Amino acid sequence: MEPRLAEILERVRSARGRVVALTGAGISAESGIPTFRGAEGYWVVGSRNYMPTEMATHEMFEAHPGEVWRWYLMRFGVCRHAQPNAGHHALADLDHALGDRFHLVTQNIDGLHLRAGATLARTSHIHGDAGWVRCASACTGELFPMPDMGERGEDTPFTAADRARLSCPRCGGWLRPHVLWFDECYDEEHYRMQTALRAAATADLLLVVGTSGATNLPSQIGDIAWRRGIAMVDVNPEDNPFAARALSMRQGFAVRGGAGERLPAIVRALVDG
Ligand code: APR
Repeated sequence: MEPRLAEILERVRSARGRVVALTGAGISAESGIPTFRGAEGYWVVGSRNYMPTEMATHEMFEAHPGEVWRWYLMRFGVCRHAQPNAGHHALADLDHALGDRFHLVTQNIDGLHLRAGATLARTSHIHGDAGWVRCASACTGELFPMPDMGERGEDTPFTAADRARLSCPRCGGWLRPHVLWFDECYDEEHYRMQTALRAAATADLLLVVGTSGATNLPSQIGDIAWRRGIAMVDVNPEDNPFAARALSMRQGFAVRGGAGERLPAIVRALVDG
């Protein structure tokens, strides 16, 4: 491990500092889930002649709920078959070792952090979670487990049986994915926005893993770390705004590598020294 990185981590460990981990699609790339803006990402591929930014919207769901569900069910199938990797397990180890001194903020809806053992109470899924659905008409704020919709391919039709499975148990209307759409706003009720911001406001280290920094709330969290002058470590094989910011910070470090490869040693340094 690079001496300066080891020094930054040792200072946080010996002071029993609070750690916030902020993860993006990159931590799940090694689990076989395409990133959004990478060469193979959904962002580039899109679904037929739509881009994700058009499909993943309240407007599209209102107009074509079955088509939006068909697109999501294809994507969720990829998540369901994926397994957590060494990066997810390392952060789960950090969660268990630090307890309430740790908080995880993730943009990922794939559920892999929880499947690796992350503690739900210390995890903010700020873009939602594909494992849950809720009433599209908001007749209730309850979350319901995602129904088993079977194996789906790009051309699997959306049937009346699918529609019945995706009916709100309370009002009979459509259920929607419990995910943040591009034409919606973060909130505390569904996406734990204030919880994430409060964690950043009291952290001693912001550990950023696998995000291109293209989304709003993660950028706000980076701003808070910058303004507070806390330690910041970015783990990403490519340049990104968080790495650039870390490089300009007194206690910042940009790790140029993959999550699965680099996180285990970083977590050991924070836990064991
Ligand atoms: N380890 C760490 N980082 C990696 C790895 C890896 N093995 N592989 C790729 N990356 C990095 C890429 O370099 C890139 O910076 O992961 C980042 C993925 O960026 P995006 O695909 O933009 O994903 P993310 O930053 O999480 O933004 C996706 O934006 O579109 C919205 O709501 C949507 O949650 C989604 C978010």
